[in-house]
Amino acid sequence: MAKQLTGDQPQGGDRLTSARIIAVQDDLVQIEVMATGRDGGHAQLVKNEVIYICPSEPNERGEQERLKAEVLRVRGMIADAQVFESTQGVAVGDAVEQSAEMLSVELGPGLLTQVYDGLQAPLPKIAAEYGIFLPRGVSVAPLDAAKKWSFVPTVKSGTKVGAGDTLGTVMEGRFTHKIMVPFGLSGEYAVSWIQEGNFTVHEVVARIADEAGNEREIQLAQKWPVRQALSGRILKGNRSRRLYPDEPIVTTQRLIDTFFPIARGGTACIPGPFGAGKTVLQNLIARHSSVDIVIVVACGERAGEVVETINEFPKLNDPKTGGTLMDRTIIICNTSSMPVAAREASIYTGITLGEYYRQMGYDVLLIADSTSRWAQAMRETSGRLEEIPGEEGFPAYLDSSIKSVYERAGVIETNDGDIGSLTMIGTVSPAGGNFDEPVTQSTLSTVKCFLGLSADRAYKRFYPAVDPQISWSRYLTQLEPWYEEHLEAGWTSRVAELTELLQRGVAVLQMMQVTGEEGVTLEDFVDYQRALFVDMVYLQQDAFDEVDATVPLERQKLTFRRVYELVTRKYDFADKNVARDYFTRLTGLFKNYNYVATTSPDHDRLLKEIDDLAAGVVSVGAGDAESTADQS
Ligand SMILES: Nc1ncnc2c1ncn2[C@@H]1O[C@H](COP(=O)(O)OP(=O)(O)OP(=O)(O)O)[C@@H](O)[C@H]1O
Ligand SMILES: [Mg+2]
Repeated sequence: MAKQLTGDQPQGGDRLTSARIIAVQDDLVQIEVMATGRDGGHAQLVKNEVIYICPSEPNERGEQERLKAEVLRVRGMIADAQVFESTQGVAVGDAVEQSAEMLSVELGPGLLTQVYDGLQAPLPKIAAEYGIFLPRGVSVAPLDAAKKWSFVPTVKSGTKVGAGDTLGTVMEGRFTHKIMVPFGLSGEYAVSWIQEGNFTVHEVVARIADEAGNEREIQLAQKWPVRQALSGRILKGNRSRRLYPDEPIVTTQRLIDTFFPIARGGTACIPGPFGAGKTVLQNLIARHSSVDIVIVVACGERAGEVVETINEFPKLNDPKTGGTLMDRTIIICNTSSMPVAAREASIYTGITLGEYYRQMGYDVLLIADSTSRWAQAMRETSGRLEEIPGEEGFPAYLDSSIKSVYERAGVIETNDGDIGSLTMIGTVSPAGGNFDEPVTQSTLSTVKCFLGLSADRAYKRFYPAVDPQISWSRYLTQLEPWYEEHLEAGWTSRVAELTELLQRGVAVLQMMQVTGEEGVTLEDFVDYQRALFVDMVYLQQDAFDEVDATVPLERQKLTFRRVYELVTRKYDFADKNVARDYFTRLTGLFKNYNYVATTSPDHDRLLKEIDDLAAGVVSVGAGDAESTADQS
């Protein structure tokens, strides 16, 4: 079979046109390899190899164009390839260069703060050089080739190293960026030469040699094929270990952290109907989560939303560092107006960048919005290849593609003892909000946390519109030891108790919708009021209030304790009106409490008012009901 290509092979210096176009259909072309050389041999065709189409006519600026494409299917001397640009004017007979490289990204210092398209072209740079739209066939280097980085070796000549091991570091903003042995190498190498100083990403800073004495040059940058897990070979060679996710990331969203937590290095999805708040919730998570680095993959979203993120992040302060959020962010952006093929690639580009920083020992969060549009890109391409369609026209390999994406999340301990993680959260936007469709179903069977948004809650403006009736997180029990040790003994069982209460509340509400309030017992009605209280003051959180928008775990613990105490204590209400009145007042006070900072003088005052209100009710027996009603 064809040999495996890796991304770190030399970039096709001598450009060999070894194939030609034999058919064109939208962004798909068919190519045929030509006999090369005197012996009449053919160049090899390899799936996922990058090729360049060279149209015979120069463009309007009189330049020879080179259009990037990726081989999708090989049959003998013929291959189908998807072109990442418009194929207008591409004709049968046009020359094709083979790059002998898989679709790859360049990894090195300078990735952070960048806004890339799905193929790692830096969008702001393109905008500066060419205006808003990238002219066809233009390629701009992902990393600044002129910028110098101060490299400090951490190993000496003679040190034995292998794939992924650290050779030295540079400072990328406030981050220590490890320069690592190329991830595709196997076996052991010895450092034969290494130097300290200021270098560009392509200057040679070290040489390493294998046992046979074959030398390899090391630069600050290296390449990696996006469709392969970067840590794969390192894990196999035992130069890193996979760890079990055993702590949560703190998103500072009460509903998530308390009821449906996400593990550090875990996976979660946010399906929801059109306009239910998927993007807003993901942005909240990206902004406030306890991670080092955030990668935002905007995949087929409307351009306006992406522009908002791009404009907003550099302005938002990162409370942890005093810098801006953009300092720790990479945005990969393929809006609905960009070519479909590049959209399909963009998720892999984002994951590979995430794996790279995880391998340095950082906690990375990748958010993908939306994976449905990514799957649609896959469906379009598969349709054009006339593959046998599965459910709803999606390719039969949809499920395995989704699994192979989320599989790349996880926690890793590196060879030098650092622990890094890649957490992945994807939104799903099923048509009509119907979760019974292939992308949602495959995602649900893959991820371990499901935050399902409901149109009903969004309509009522119960934000975040995550529906506790349908959502779940396997991490709540998986992380139980962590909660016991770091938060509070009995935490998970109390959370389970309130989850049950929420369900009982919905059941009573459904009964009341049929029979009216009179049709349910006082006890049922009080349960409904308790559940509503939990919903109003704990599940709902105001994204536009400075204090309420982001609630640290410590405050969540105290708030939860109080809410739990208030809804599990024994009440003795005279009738439904008294009960309703009490919970309405309690909700009002508690919401005010949610809005005050812990340091505010109002904080303790409100807590006291809440306690007084509750104490007043509890002390009242059935006989004193009159006076309770008077008070209200
Ligand atoms: N947490 C929130 N607080 C207040 N308003 C919200 C919140 N979440 C969503 N909204 C409102 O709902 C609107 C739509 O939200 P958003 O764009 O996140 O939906 P979406 O599910 O991503 O939609 P689409 O399916 O179009 O991508 C927002 O513009 C905002 O007005
Ligand atoms: Mg959205």
